[in-house]
Amino acid sequence: MVGVAGFEPATPASRKQCSTGLSHTPTETAAYSLGFRAPQEAEFEDFDPVEIDLTTRILPSGGAAAAAAECLADGGLVAFPTETVYGLGADAANPDAIARLYQAKGRPAFNPLIAHVGDLAAARRLGRFGPQATALAEAFWPGPLTLVLAKTADCAVADLATAGLDTVAIRVPAHPVAQAILAAFGAPVVAPSANLSGHVSPTTAAHVASDLGGRINLIVDGGPVEVGVESTIIGCFETPMLLRPGGVPREAIARVLGQTLLQAPADADSETAQPLAPGMLASHYAPRNPVRLNAVHVEAGEALLSFGPTLPHGAERATVVMNLSDRGDLNEAATRLFGYLRALDAKAARGIAVMPIPDEGLGEAINDRLRRAAIGRE
Ligand code: TXA
Ligand code: MG
Repeated sequence: MVGVAGFEPATPASRKQCSTGLSHTPTETAAYSLGFRAPQEAEFEDFDPVEIDLTTRILPSGGAAAAAAECLADGGLVAFPTETVYGLGADAANPDAIARLYQAKGRPAFNPLIAHVGDLAAARRLGRFGPQATALAEAFWPGPLTLVLAKTADCAVADLATAGLDTVAIRVPAHPVAQAILAAFGAPVVAPSANLSGHVSPTTAAHVASDLGGRINLIVDGGPVEVGVESTIIGCFETPMLLRPGGVPREAIARVLGQTLLQAPADADSETAQPLAPGMLASHYAPRNPVRLNAVHVEAGEALLSFGPTLPHGAERATVVMNLSDRGDLNEAATRLFGYLRALDAKAARGIAVMPIPDEGLGEAINDRLRRAAIGRE
């Protein structure tokens, strides 16, 4: 057991944090005109990050499930690996724990959380599965897919975690450590990615500690994750909608459904603005340095995030080069994306130039995250 008492998390001056008290004003938005109630606006205020002075325990994953479950039952916050990224878990039925979770992340409380459960039977207690949702669950669970469904009448997820929506986002993660924790706890666990709101998602326990050390109770270290980008989110509306590209490629989902997916409406334009739909906060993966996309040349002083065997013009001028996959493999690139963005950002170059990435398979999720990293920093 390792203590990280007194650890100072990185909190850029621009970071904003919101109150966790929700005050609802109904609004209509495009994404919810399909038989689901519109998301409700939460009132939030900007204030300096709340000081949280916790001792964060870090446990190796072997045998940590019981300690994690005990901590969750006490209302604690536990970071753990899933196959996509590390999640920050709290008891989905405990509003106090969820309020602390929003506070630890500095996350706007109008941005709802994904409920994680161990299997489809547990998922059916939270959300109403139609034939399409059932087909997707059977094809891709456990795995990197989240389904947004109408809540059941006795859905155990606290309103604070669903931001007052009639819908709930549900996922069955495949990672054995996540599965062991869910089995030991025996109830749904809400878990956003275990980073400060607006930061790049964590793919190792060290990333979690650097964002949230001193702000959460426990980190279960299960080594680096396998997929590297977050789950694909599908809104199971009348016509299924891709709310967030992620670890299951769009093409694979369309094959199972036998139809193409509706595209979610355009992004809202800042992290704290009311999003058009939850999950669509535009600047969401922001490094501190400016990010320049589709770079076909490198400018002096830039760090280079490359892809494939051929480097762009001027690559020798780059302060540092990190290649997402020199053999052009998009799955390998996804596993490295967030770690490399963190590493390049830490080199404090003048900016980060990113080579074009093909927009197919996991490339769609990679490009989505890169666009968000670039927003407002050019
Ligand atoms: O891979 C993942 O999904 C990871 C791991 C930890 O499971 N989790 C994750 O959670 O990425 P988070 O909170 O960083 O992103 C979840 C997204 C949010 O953008 C949220 O707005 C959206 O899911 N979401 C949650 N509930 C929703 C709902 N009812 N309708 C639409 N979007 C929803
Ligand atoms: Mg996240």
